[in-house]
Amino acid sequence: MARRPLVAGNWKMYKTVEETRRYIDQLVALLDGELGGPNLPELALCVPFTSLAAAVERVGGRPIAVFAQNMHHEPEGPYTGEVSAPMLLECGCSGVVLGHSERRTYFGETDRALALKVPAALAAGLTPILCVGESEAQREAGETERTLRHQVGEALSGVADDQLERVVIAYEPVWAIGTGKRATAEQIEEAAFFIRALVEARSHRAAERLRILYGGSVSEDNAAELFELQNVDGALVGGASLDPQRFAAIARSARG
Ligand code: PGA
Repeated sequence: MARRPLVAGNWKMYKTVEETRRYIDQLVALLDGELGGPNLPELALCVPFTSLAAAVERVGGRPIAVFAQNMHHEPEGPYTGEVSAPMLLECGCSGVVLGHSERRTYFGETDRALALKVPAALAAGLTPILCVGESEAQREAGETERTLRHQVGEALSGVADDQLERVVIAYEPVWAIGTGKRATAEQIEEAAFFIRALVEARSHRAAERLRILYGGSVSEDNAAELFELQNVDGALVGGASLDPQRFAAIARSARG
């Protein structure tokens, strides 16, 4: 079963509306004629809430999806500072990053909250990119698989088996994020294989179709190797996605 690769840029808290417009114009110019073609992966930009509408408008119907970086599980309610799935949809957003390690570390995001957010995103028609990954201490203690089992198991506990294939899982070891220290091909394939086996235990069909990305210090110099890995179907790119030239180069390395 061939899975279509996905390369998603996670902008984090970078870029104003004006910077968003400029970036998209540059990216579109760089990939002119190739967008939507068989030589590029599916592309998504995960932008700050304030840039969502401008990004969708600037993309202008071209095949570059616009994703958010978080959402609340309720459609509306007294939750100051939060944004819901229907609000994202109205902006033209088609997916959302959930459970990024920065949200877990700095904003108290829990696996329990993710168990509500992932099904809420799916029910709204959004594609969730669920981020999981072990810390350096967990890896050193030999707890990588235990950590992944817990994170994946809990976050997907409220998703029906026949909906699992719509989830994208990003394996992002915390020690590789923003450090310039990408995990090795062996470490990545081992974790992706393990994650796919966790999904397999619930649904064979979903395990064949669900996409697993790698994230953590992906660059134009080390991306091509990722796309060779059997269980890796793309990348979630932080720092290198902030520059349209670098992001375009990474996208091109996924071709074929
Ligand atoms: P990085 O970030 O590519 O800058 O390491 C990845 C991420 O946080 O998704």
